[in-house]
Amino acid sequence: MIGRHHARLLQTGGFARFAGAVDPAGDQYGAVLDPDKVFPSVEALLAATTPDFAVIAVPTAQHAAAAAELARAGVHVLVEKPLAGTVQEAEETIAAIRDAGVRGAVGHVERYNPALLGVREHLHEIGQVFLISTERVGPFPDRIRDVGVVMDLATHDLDLVRWLGGEPVAQVAAQTAVRMGREPHEDLVLITGRLRNDTTFNCVVDRVTPTKRRRTRILGERGMLEADTLTGDLVLYKNASATVADPFAQALRGVSEGDAIRFALPRPEPLRTELETFVAYIQGDDDAGVVTLEEGLHTVQVAAAALRSAQTGETVSP
Ligand SMILES: NC(=O)c1ccc[n+]([C@@H]2O[C@H](COP(=O)([O-])OP(=O)(O)OC[C@H]3O[C@@H](n4cnc5c(N)ncnc54)[C@H](O)[C@@H]3O)[C@@H](O)[C@H]2O)c1
Repeated sequence: MIGRHHARLLQTGGFARFAGAVDPAGDQYGAVLDPDKVFPSVEALLAATTPDFAVIAVPTAQHAAAAAELARAGVHVLVEKPLAGTVQEAEETIAAIRDAGVRGAVGHVERYNPALLGVREHLHEIGQVFLISTERVGPFPDRIRDVGVVMDLATHDLDLVRWLGGEPVAQVAAQTAVRMGREPHEDLVLITGRLRNDTTFNCVVDRVTPTKRRRTRILGERGMLEADTLTGDLVLYKNASATVADPFAQALRGVSEGDAIRFALPRPEPLRTELETFVAYIQGDDDAGVVTLEEGLHTVQVAAAALRSAQTGETVSP
């Protein structure tokens, strides 16, 4: 699903030359323009060519093995999110990348969503942030998943909560449910938590909702920013400044209301921005803005803590 979009951008984006794609199942979606550039294994790819970098877009449980194999061959790796399916594999992946002396980063593509980049730009307008609230719900996908929603989807939210809130996660508590009969993989999770700087957050994530929603709300002392990462929209609601005297209008708006601004944002494709950022990073730009391996590890640790909390009923410090 995501590999074919990487392939499209790497072949047509103009910021890289395409070395090839590896998939033991072949090119099921006709994503590769030149059939000679489809390989059944990393070994076969490496026998034909030595790429500068690779995007790891295999099932999550196989990230660690694929990333390590390519890193050992001297290839920089951009690992799709989550960095790995377990904390141990995430740590092993970082060690393999460090030992090989190559560069690595994690593909948390939401970081490049125009609406969330806009949130970062306008954060100062709402003052001290005290709540970050995310909603990522939608229908059950037709693809078989090797992990539940916590690792698969909530890792997007856990990464952006930390990124927007500016500090690592200190505590999480979670409730999960299995509604689609795919034990042991949960398809619904509710997470509440607190960052080290005391900002509170909650995330509602599932794949059992009949319509897709991707919303992030940031509440601060002077107002609220609301981002919709499906449409790329961002709205700033300022705290109340005008009294609403008309009783009918009051029923709709409350006793007072503030200004609201919907920002007109440039909308480049987030996946393209992610790839361009990684290319700049491997060319030596340390401040390019990649999601670092350590950040990717922290997100896997927090996701594991959420799963532990759901199991034990306790609040967990990752
Ligand atoms: N950043 C995002 O928004 C985003 C979106 C979707 C998926 N992902 C991540 O990308 C990864 C892939 O997800 P997907 O939905 O594209 O999965 P998918 O099942 O659609 O595709 C995985 C592909 O990997 C191939 N494959 C399996 N083992 C392989 C191996 N050892 N070497 C090479 N190819 C192999 C499969 O044949 C399949 O074509 C997951 O980790 C997922 O979390 C990220």
